[in-house]
Amino acid sequence: MTNVMVMEPLLQRQNEQTATGNASAAAPAAVVGNSRERMLTALNLGAVDRPPVWLMRQAGRCLPEYRELKKEYTFRELIHTPELAAEITVQPIRRFGFDAAILFSDILVVPEALGQGFRFRDTGGVEMKFTLQSQADIEKLDATEVAGRLQYVASALRAIKKELGGRTALLGFAGSPWTLANFMLEGGSSNEFTKALELFRKDRRAFDLLAGKLAAAVTEFLQLQIDSGVDAVQLFDSLGGLLPGEDFEAASGSWMRQIIEGLRGQVPVIVFAKGVRRWNDLVKTGAKALGIDHGIDILEASRNLPASVALQGNFDPDLLTAATPATVAAEAKVLLKKMRGRRGYIFNLGHGVPAEAKLENLEALVGAVKGEI
Ligand code: CP3
Repeated sequence: MTNVMVMEPLLQRQNEQTATGNASAAAPAAVVGNSRERMLTALNLGAVDRPPVWLMRQAGRCLPEYRELKKEYTFRELIHTPELAAEITVQPIRRFGFDAAILFSDILVVPEALGQGFRFRDTGGVEMKFTLQSQADIEKLDATEVAGRLQYVASALRAIKKELGGRTALLGFAGSPWTLANFMLEGGSSNEFTKALELFRKDRRAFDLLAGKLAAAVTEFLQLQIDSGVDAVQLFDSLGGLLPGEDFEAASGSWMRQIIEGLRGQVPVIVFAKGVRRWNDLVKTGAKALGIDHGIDILEASRNLPASVALQGNFDPDLLTAATPATVAAEAKVLLKKMRGRRGYIFNLGHGVPAEAKLENLEALVGAVKGEI
């Protein structure tokens, strides 16, 4: 573990980024100093030289240097050891020069901090240590001192912040109450998430008790991340699309709004609600930016959302596995063209980087966004 911090290549890469930023600063109305400023400017709807780029699940999975660490440590060890979490967060920045780094952790650390631990199944997917089955189980979740139990994340963020040195934006994140409730009530990953919707329909008081506890815990967790220096945070409502549209506001959107209100605008909040087209409900959450998944035409999203909301997305992640670098670059340019002139556009995928993504495709993607190819 002593050896995991390799500072030099990162610094080199970031100096290059700064140089690129300075060069383009000559262009009219698009003054950008470095990656961090580019990301923050886009989130605040300012003019940028090119859209900032980062990718969901950029940390881990498909990177050989991450797989090396996985041979030695379990996933839990990796996320619970600040030096290792920091190293993995920075790996994709070193390799690809993304404009933002996302904390290496998992949405399930919040249920864990409430007393419901998790582990990964050998067969893939995640398993909670037990399943929430009754109101009594929900009452037992201990929402006091959540921040105290998540101090290891604060330590990781401070280490990352130091290494990024203000040149690359640092993103924190948490799961939305609705998405977390699904994993907690189902007992882990599932082909069919049905229990949370069932509870929402049949016992609204128990559902609200759970969602309320999660909203409070997530707010406290994101506040801890803000206090540790993150530049923005993303709420993952990856299972938001499971909800019939008319239930989205009561089961998910309103809880995200409660969290965002609790954070009082200290940093921009990005909401990624996969498969959700309830534009008004999404805007009502108070999100500064909305992540759009690849099942939705980003132009449809752009047309339906006010200019005051930044847009993030929505390159098809499957192309990173199946296509050639030339196709990836060409498709990236199609997306860039669609979003040209849209203030507050952030290049990202429609969902996470697949574990089997080809590195040369990731390079082509980033190269195309940076105008290098
Ligand atoms: O995006 C990043 O690079 C930062 C790290 C991050 C991870 N998980 C690391 C991880 C983030 C932001 C998450 C979010 C997350 N975790 C979500 C929401 C986003 C999404 O993808 O929908 C969800 C639903 C989870 C829960 C989770 N974590 C599951 C169901 C699984 C197992 C299945 C899978 O996708 O691999 C995980 C594992 C996980 N989380 C891994 C990583 C790097 C893989 C662990 C490994 O095998 O090395």
